[in-house]
Parts: sequence; structure tokens; C-alpha cells
Amino acid sequence: MSAVGLLRQIADVGRDRARGGYSRHLATAAESDLRDWFTEQAARRGLDVETDRNGNVWAWWGAPGDDAVVTGSHLDSVPGGGAFDGPLGVASALAAVDDLLARGFAPARPLAVVVFAEEEGGRFGVPCLGSRLLTGSLDADRARGLRDADGVTLAEALTARGGDPSALGPDPERLARVGRFVELHVEQGRALDVPVGIGSTIVAHGRWRLSFTGQGNHAGTTALTDRRDPMIPAAATVLAARRAAARAADARATVGRLVPTPGGTNVIASSVDLWLDVRTPSGEPGPVVEDVLAAAREAAAAEGCTVELVRESLSGAVAFDDALAARMAAAVPGAPLLPTAAGHDAGVLAAHVPAGMLHVRNPTGVSHAPDEHAEDDDVERGVRALADVLAEPAR
Ligand code: GLV
Ligand code: MN
Ligand code: MN
Ligand code: MN
Repeated sequence: MSAVGLLRQIADVGRDRARGGYSRHLATAAESDLRDWFTEQAARRGLDVETDRNGNVWAWWGAPGDDAVVTGSHLDSVPGGGAFDGPLGVASALAAVDDLLARGFAPARPLAVVVFAEEEGGRFGVPCLGSRLLTGSLDADRARGLRDADGVTLAEALTARGGDPSALGPDPERLARVGRFVELHVEQGRALDVPVGIGSTIVAHGRWRLSFTGQGNHAGTTALTDRRDPMIPAAATVLAARRAAARAADARATVGRLVPTPGGTNVIASSVDLWLDVRTPSGEPGPVVEDVLAAAREAAAAEGCTVELVRESLSGAVAFDDALAARMAAAVPGAPLLPTAAGHDAGVLAAHVPAGMLHVRNPTGVSHAPDEHAEDDDVERGVRALADVLAEPAR
């Protein structure tokens, strides 16, 4: 079946009626439906499905074993996300298996399709949760204690769906089986004007939480001069983030989430949490974050508030494997090499195994939002390239 046909099968799963688009998060009904769909599709193709200790789902063509050729992506989304970021890579992997079956291809080494858990960090805040746990780059105790917006810990959420949070942790034997990893992904900006591009690098990227504390109070009776309103330094910090990014070469800084407590229209907040996402193609995000923090401290002090900074995740810059990129270039002659400022499981794996990415053109240039798109013909071109790359090393 075509990748687009497969995506159509899950078009109604996890729709977010309030925000628009999709909200597909770890340990929710939507995620469970998507896992069931993937398991069924894998079984139809004769693949053997297993879920690893970190909730990543692997579908094996041939017995699981060493030097495997692995492809896949994720099925979770950001809040109110599009239909392609993640699912396109999973659907394309299944479609590439169909393509290889139709070619009569018999893998000489194991081939697997993987679905990584909670790539977006949409529920528990840390991106690439499943691949980071697998590779040991996220501590399992820290992961178990991560909380969602309702205060539910990851351990509680996994237990509630019948999982075993005590099993979370590095999985070196499984990782050692992966000979190479290729992720097909929708392009997430305006950088690609041909159907398919080849991933070159991922920029450095981190997430920080700033928590401002003031004094909760009455919106009507509290004189302006008596207020310690944490929303004031929070607002100044949003503007400081834009200024700090503009001062640094090529950097991007975003505040996409801001939560006042208690969150009443007629209540001066007692505290405000905001999340800062910083990405830097040259150098590390540190100096941009320091710049924002200095402004946050100054604004907090002026309002009689305090501010605390917590780093939630940090990934260094990633360079994908040259040999794998060369194989992709042979599969898609003329495809441009493309850096990306989006995070991916392929970037986490790249520190451990040869990894690479194929990007499929996005005509809207919009991602992490419902307008994200890929044209059917471009997807077909990407799937053919993926099938060629998966087939080549096993011949
Ligand atoms: C994930 O897609 C990210 O780049 O935030
Ligand atoms: Mn994403
Ligand atoms: Mn993605
Ligand atoms: Mn009242």
C-alpha cells in the first residue's frame, strides 16, 4: 500500500477538536490506537513485532539479529500538530517494505521498522524520550519522575496502561543490533524545493524551564505599586528571547508554552512557568540562554519576584553518516544535502550507529501545525529512495 494510503488509515486517530490538528501523546488512547494499527500493519507484512523496555516498537523482517538495517520514526505529535511529522516516516517504512516485497527482495541481514516513543516530548517535556532511554542518554530515574501538565509522572502513566516503568533504561544489546538507521521525515521549513533531500546535520538544541514566583492576589483591589506579578517578568522574558536570538548568529529562541498558576482572569498569578526552546546552527545554545536569563533576572527583581532556571534537555549538533548519505545520493541523484533545525530520533542514534535522513518536500513550509503537508508524488519518490537505501547494503 502507498504511504499516503497508510496515513489515511490513521487520519481520524488523535484529532484535537479544540486545538485543530492532532494531539497524540504517550500513554493515551490515541497512542494505543496507533500502536495497534502499526502492529496490525506489520503483522500483515509478516513482520514480527516486539516492544522494547522503553516502549519503542520494533517490527522485524527476518529474525532479530546483528547488523540490522533499521528505519522508522515516531507516531506521537506535538499538541495540535500535523499529520506528517513522524507518521510519514513510519508509513513510508511500511510502504518501502511493500516495495521490497514486490521486488522479490530477500533481506540478507535483518531489517526492522521501529516506532520510537514520545519523540516530541509533547506530554512529558523531554524530546526523543524512547531513543534517549534506549541509548542511555536519558537517566531512567529522571525519566520515571517526569511530570505531564496534570502532574502525572511518567511512571504513573506507564503503570496505568499496564506497562512496567521499572524496566526503563539503556538497552545496549538492542542498540548493538542496529547496523544503520535511516529516518524519512517531512521537511519542516522552506529549505527544500525538490521532492527529496538528504539530511546532513541537525543543529544544537535545548529546552529550559523558567519559573517565576511572585504573590498571588486580587486583580481589582491590589494597587499597581503593591503587586509582585510574575507575569510581568515572564512577558519581558518572551521579548528577551527574541532579542537574544536576533543578536546571535542564526540562532532561534521560542517561548511556545507559558503556564500561569492559578490561571484566573481576575487573579494576579502567584507563579508563571515558561518554556524556552533554543537552537543554534553555530556554537552551543548556552550563550543565548544566559542572555535570556540575565534579562529574566533583571525583570524579576524589578517586580519583586524570583526566577529559577531548569534545563530539561540539551542535544549537541549532529552530523549524519557520510557513507549512508552517499548511498542516499545514489538512490536520489541530484538530491540536495540539507541541514535541519528540527530534532529527530535519527540524531540521537547518530552518536551510536551510522544514521541518516531523507526529507520529503513540504509545500506549505509549515510544521508542528495542522498546515504541515507533503504531496503524494513527493512521498512516493521518498518511499522509492528509502526502499533503495534499505535494499542496497543487504545485497
Ligand atoms: C521535534 O520535532 C523538534 O524539533 O522539536
Ligand atoms: Mn516534530
Ligand atoms: Mn518528527
Ligand atoms: Mn470576589
